[in-house]
This record gives sequence, structure tokens and C-alpha cells, in this order.
Amino acid sequence: METLLATDVAAKQQTDFLPLQGTDYVEFYVGNAKQAAHFYKTAFGFQSLAYAGPETGVRDRASYVIRQNKLTFVLTTPLRPGNAIADHIYKHGDGVKVLALKVENATSAWEETTKRGAKSYFEPETLKDGEGEVVLSGIHTYGDTVHLFVERKNYNGVFMPGFKKWESTYNPTDTGLLYVDHCVGNVGWNQMDVWVKFYEEVMGFRNILTFDDNDISTEYSALMSKVMSNGNGFVKFPINEPAEGKKKSQVEEYLDFYNGEGVQHVAIATNNIIETVTTLQSRGVEFLKIPSSYYVDLIDRVGHIDEDLEPLKELGILVDKDDEGYLLQIFSKPIEDRPTLFFEIIQRKGAKSFGKGNFKALFEALEREQDARGNL
Ligand code: FE2
Repeated sequence: METLLATDVAAKQQTDFLPLQGTDYVEFYVGNAKQAAHFYKTAFGFQSLAYAGPETGVRDRASYVIRQNKLTFVLTTPLRPGNAIADHIYKHGDGVKVLALKVENATSAWEETTKRGAKSYFEPETLKDGEGEVVLSGIHTYGDTVHLFVERKNYNGVFMPGFKKWESTYNPTDTGLLYVDHCVGNVGWNQMDVWVKFYEEVMGFRNILTFDDNDISTEYSALMSKVMSNGNGFVKFPINEPAEGKKKSQVEEYLDFYNGEGVQHVAIATNNIIETVTTLQSRGVEFLKIPSSYYVDLIDRVGHIDEDLEPLKELGILVDKDDEGYLLQIFSKPIEDRPTLFFEIIQRKGAKSFGKGNFKALFEALEREQDARGNL
């Protein structure tokens, strides 16, 4: 016991160089930000928050900021070809560019990570307006994805300098989405440990869970995954790589269509997954189907759960457990035409990590979709 405590203390001290307060926002580069914002408002229940574009003096792009509880998305599109945003979309399709992390000090976050080997995306810069100041800095991670460090303790404005409040007459009700639970990256063959090392050494994260290809394989395809978590557990980044199977790994399909490494899914927390998923479905969000056989011995596998089995079965919600409790989760189909980014909706009931039991059911469901696309 004492040894465990000592290890915990040592681990905490080790992570002190990059204290993270959670996810600040997720920014997507998309082909049409105006329409994407409408989609996320309509289907997922976000509200309009802020806007930047030609009307606010930004000449090369338009960005729409939408929010639901503590969940903030930024949807950005280029106004002309021949720039980094346009090239990103040409190469990857719509996808996640920025995983922005909220910090107390964006300058020290940049210094501490770059001195440990992070490649700088941009140096700390201070943005100011009448509402105060925001300090931003950025580093590269896998593929063309970047982490921004956002220091907003001296800012009272609606989002950040350069943005104006976006008032809309269209304000659909929310769907109970609360905050980002975790964001998963897909990386290339034999690259998982490279990025695990990056998160350990450069960002002070710890590997809290490992799934090897025996845990995550079906009859046809396989992948490996390691879950990286920061010190306080607010930020979790699982990393997947493809593994050899009889047929093509779903991670490989992603890498093919995204044209490289990138964010596979963003998992969003809710306090009532049955209500949230019922509403999302009624608004047109499509989820993976789970065969009813999954539910036959579910209670034997996970023990008592508070929820009725019937709605879980009807919606296709998966249940799994770790040492501390259980969790309910469901996965959407890709939200663009390329089989790349999708969303997970998750409700935690005690479990802080992930279970191994759901992977097979999930990946068999994914494979059925992959097969329907002719990519298995
Ligand atoms: Fe997930």
C-alpha cells in the first residue's frame, strides 16, 4: 500500500509541469462551416456562441463557435484555396484540427513541452480586446493535428478576442451533452508507442490502460490501443494503431481515407445516455447497431445496473465495467462521407477508465459498416 502511495506521489510530481484544467474546445476544419454549424445545432443541440470572419476583420476564414454546457466546438472553413486550412480539407476531408487544452499559463505550457521535444505550432501570443486578454500557444501532435494551450483567466468576453457574439434566431433545445470525456487518435503501423512516449515524456501523461490485439480482435480485423491520461484525469487521449488480421483493420481504413493520422472519435459525456441518445436519434444522428445477442448475458458480465435493459437494447447502448464502477457508451456512424471521424456518447457510473468487454461487440459492429462500404 505504501509503495502504491509513493508511486502515486511520484507520478503526480512528474505531471506537475503541465497542469491541465480540461478540454477548452475542439476545432474542426470543414468544407462549409455555416452548414456544419447548423448541423451541429440541429442534430446535437448546440447553441450559437461566437463568430469570426470577414465581418469581424478576418479575411481568410470563417469560424463559428457553438456550445452546449461545457462542450465547445469551433467550425472553421477557408474562404480561398491555397492556404493551410484549404489544404487540410483537401487532404483529410472534414476533421479535427485542434484539441485545445485549458491551462493556467499558456507560456509555461509551451516552454515545458517544447523543451521536452514538442514541435512548436506557434509561440505564445497574447490576444486582447475590451474584455481582457487570452494567451494562446500551440504544439504539434500526431498527423496534422495540434494541441493549443488556452489561458483565459483574464478574459470576460464571449469566446476570445477576434470573435463577436453570434446571436441566432434558431436555438434548438440541447440534448444533454456535457463535456469532452476523451479524444481518440488513430496512428500508423508501429506508431502507437511513439505517441505514447510523446504523451508521457512531452506532456507528462501516464498510460492507464492497454488493449492488445488479443483484446481487440474479431474474426477479421484487429487493432491495439493505449489510453493516455493526464495527472488529474481530466484529459484522456487513447491512441490506436492497426494490427494484422485476416482482413483490413478499421484503423487502416481510417488512415486510408483521412490520408494519414488523426482524431478517430470525440467522446462526449452525458448524465442520461438513454434520454440523450433517444433525442439524438430523433434528430437524425445515426448510431452503430448492436445485435440483440450482446444483451443476452450482459448482466452476468457487468453485474447490476440501474438502467432497464430494454431501452439499452433498443438503442444499441453498450455497458462495460472497470474496478470502480460501470459505464454506458454508444458510437455514431461517421459524421462525414469519408469513413473517418465519429462521436461516442458516454455515461460513467463510477467507472473512470474503460472496460475490455465492449471492444469485440463494437468492432464487429464497425466491421459490418466497413464491409458495407467495400473496405473490409
Ligand atoms: Fe472512446
